[in-house]
Amino acid sequence: MDRRNFFAGLAGLSTLAWTGAPLRAKGTMNVAMDNMSGMAKMPAMNGMDAPAQRLAATDAIPIGGVLQPPRVLQNEISGTGKFKATLVAAPARVSLVPGQTTEIWSYNGSFPGPLIELTAGDEVEINLHNRLPQATTIHWHGLPVPADQDGNPSDAVPAGGSRVYRFTLPTDISGLYWYHPHPHKQSAEQVYRGLAGPILVRTKDDPLAALPERVLAITDLRLTADGAIPANDTMDWMNGREGQFVLVNGQHRPKLVFDANGQERWRILNATNARYLRLQLPGHSLALVGTDGGPLERAQIGLREILVAPAQRVDVVVYATGQRSMSPSPLLAAPYNRGKMGGAAEDAPVQLLDVLFSTTRAPSPPTLPPVLRSWPQWPAAAVQKRVVMSESMSMAKGQQGMQFLLNGKSFDMARVDLISEMGVTEEWTIVNDSDMDHPFHIHGTQFLVVEREIGGQIRKETFRALYDTVNLKSQETVRIKIVQTMKGIRMFHCHLLEHEDLGMMGRLNVI
Ligand code: C2O
Ligand code: CU
Ligand code: CU
Repeated sequence: MDRRNFFAGLAGLSTLAWTGAPLRAKGTMNVAMDNMSGMAKMPAMNGMDAPAQRLAATDAIPIGGVLQPPRVLQNEISGTGKFKATLVAAPARVSLVPGQTTEIWSYNGSFPGPLIELTAGDEVEINLHNRLPQATTIHWHGLPVPADQDGNPSDAVPAGGSRVYRFTLPTDISGLYWYHPHPHKQSAEQVYRGLAGPILVRTKDDPLAALPERVLAITDLRLTADGAIPANDTMDWMNGREGQFVLVNGQHRPKLVFDANGQERWRILNATNARYLRLQLPGHSLALVGTDGGPLERAQIGLREILVAPAQRVDVVVYATGQRSMSPSPLLAAPYNRGKMGGAAEDAPVQLLDVLFSTTRAPSPPTLPPVLRSWPQWPAAAVQKRVVMSESMSMAKGQQGMQFLLNGKSFDMARVDLISEMGVTEEWTIVNDSDMDHPFHIHGTQFLVVEREIGGQIRKETFRALYDTVNLKSQETVRIKIVQTMKGIRMFHCHLLEHEDLGMMGRLNVI
């Protein structure tokens, strides 16, 4: 049986008589018939026969408003070197579709969460009040914060509870990061209901500080016809959820009026649960100047497109082409085939925003410094580790569904999966032995991609950049160099949040 048809038929599966014949899908998928240990229970499985809810039309949220910058989280302390603030996670009502209100979950009523603006070296103290109906945590995605301040699933703040997160940023850090919940099995829901926000860390020696800059926080939203955010269905748990709306700073396809001097710096966060953003601005080339971990060593200019996997960030310089035009240029998320099960192989293109270039002043060639960051030589790896991502299907009655595994195991909050020594450079070989893409993410530090291998073909990385999240295509192997700098338990997982919740996550003990 073909894998795609198998999943297409899953929605009505509970009405089928299961013959018991072993079922082997194409590729490397294993069918777990008897071995049910570690089977992550899919909350959606119980409601498999529930009729699909009618969704809001794709034009229900009005388009064309002028792009607004994200709301900024106010620092309660004046002066420099310290940042103190409060985040209240709570249900809120917002108006997205005219004539309707939508209940979202938000930080401080803001959708998406407010922008946290920090400076390298800052002492940070953030108070969380959890007014959600379930436990939550705040994870500071990408920031090197102490393990017990990093919102691990084991450090949940119960409904009605509060806690303070404290950490001090290194003096040499910069870039776009983000914060989001990380509770056991409920991260996906909390993020798709609205809990995620950007963090911008600045340094005093930013070589691009003179450029006009925007933060674009991209989120994904599904709404029913009556304006509600529905729960995940079976296919969402398998593929990761994608809604019918992709929002930029909470706005549907807004208008961006481009800077009159002809160049802008866009800092883009993919805060969606599972949507791949293959960014294109037809007629314009893009310069990649930074990734998850801040500036690249050298800018990559003349790019036609940039793939931003879920949880990744990019720092991009965009130029007016020199053609004054009254018609807007759409920033697209072009179709990207990530091997989704069941439905269409490729998503439809999404118009994220409309860019209005109103100038003919185009700096050409781009006025970027040749070196954006000096790059220290990384020591040779002293230790090797291997992480294999896999999928397996279960047909056992009442538990039909997928398992997503790391090294053959489903997440266990009481288990240590790997041990690393603080300060030791390691090479991790990450293998995607499954039929769909998975973005690999690790907490506590950032890594260098050494090379990628697919179909026996090895591609060395052509430029130096720091990441905390790297995408792996089906049957791809990625080798990274990584050093952990603080002791404690760190999570590593697939950042399709549904997969994370289903157990595609492990625990690294840094000693
Ligand atoms: Cu952004 Cu462990 O996650
Ligand atoms: Cu993280
Ligand atoms: Cu995954």
